[in-house]
Amino acid sequence: MSKSTGSCQGFLHHVFDYETPKTLIIPSIRVGFVFRFTQFLVLLYVVGYVCVVQKAYQETDSVISTVTTKVKGFAFTNISDMEPRFWDVVDYNIPPQGDGSFFVLTNVVMTPGQTQSRCAELPNPSTICVDDCDCVEGYNDPRGNGIRTGLCENYSSIVKTCEVLSWCPLETDTNLPKRALLAEAENFTVLIKNSITYPKFNFHKRNILSHINSTYLKRCEFNRKTDPNCPIFRLKHIVSEAGEDFQDMAVKGGVLGILIDWSCNLDWWARKCYPKYTFHRLDNKHPVNNVAPGYNFRFAKYYRTAEGEEVRTLIKAYGIRFDVIVFGTAGKFGIVPTIVNLGAALSFLSLVPMVADWFMLTCMKKRDLYSRQKSTYLVEESEVESACLKNP
Ligand SMILES: *[C@@H]1O[C@H](CO)[C@@H](O)[C@H](O)[C@H]1NC(C)=O
Repeated sequence: MSKSTGSCQGFLHHVFDYETPKTLIIPSIRVGFVFRFTQFLVLLYVVGYVCVVQKAYQETDSVISTVTTKVKGFAFTNISDMEPRFWDVVDYNIPPQGDGSFFVLTNVVMTPGQTQSRCAELPNPSTICVDDCDCVEGYNDPRGNGIRTGLCENYSSIVKTCEVLSWCPLETDTNLPKRALLAEAENFTVLIKNSITYPKFNFHKRNILSHINSTYLKRCEFNRKTDPNCPIFRLKHIVSEAGEDFQDMAVKGGVLGILIDWSCNLDWWARKCYPKYTFHRLDNKHPVNNVAPGYNFRFAKYYRTAEGEEVRTLIKAYGIRFDVIVFGTAGKFGIVPTIVNLGAALSFLSLVPMVADWFMLTCMKKRDLYSRQKSTYLVEESEVESACLKNP
């Protein structure tokens, strides 16, 4: 008999040998304990983490929402460089439409009586001049205040600057009040109306909860401990919950986030869905280099004098912008995620015997006995005899 038939037989053996598991019972407390303990860990993970914490049996959907806001409050200012003035919501709330982001003016630099005319530029190294030759006519510096006329004029008794065609007199915003002009803004209130939908579950709700009536709404004010469902917020309270001081923030302005969390569990046994409010300052309070802090922008009010000349009041407004940010996901029992996660749990359980086997074959004293018994190559006696007879 040649060698090749021998190896062919060996190959056939490998392909057609049938392996069948044999139950080996190990009467050892330690192996049994490792097996049960591993099983227990897997069950703890599946029940405790996957089901209770992650709620993996649920389908989820993310929130879509709309926000409207209404600010209320009055202020009266009486400072030296401005006439006594009464402020209501139309004066300080910009834009007046009241959407998810509203601005409350707290400090201001006003430049009244500007007309289209000529005046000397604000002094800085690039605008200071000695005579007309230093000023190029028509030159237009985007960081300047107007188009140069080519003349060098007296800005003050000691300095001369190039004259520009612009809205004159020019704004000088270096004298920003150190204390916020509208300090009373801390007592203004804002009503936030927020309607949300989870389209997948056809679920609708708003933050003015169903038990709230209009008498309650007229007098309530949000407070995390005593009144957590009232949708009316005092601005000072919002800012202090964000860990800031209102009067401090009001001087240079800033951006404050009102976060509404609508995470909901919509299963029938736990039908809880209430908004949770948190507040955070979103801009950087103290930039490292203290350059360009706070938040401000400019706008103007235009009118005509009796002579028909167009005049404007330029307003550089500092204030706090409140951004209402709505987020959340809802979960509800779903058959598909349940089956998928059940399958994953079962496959984890099927790994447990491997752990116990490994423990039994490496850590136990009798591991040699176990490993000999673990798999048996079954040989029938008649086959052994015939093989011996053929190849003596
Ligand atoms: C805001 O209201 C409180 C109490 O109603 C009052 O003590 C405080 O002076 C008010 N703040 C300002 C800046 O007027």
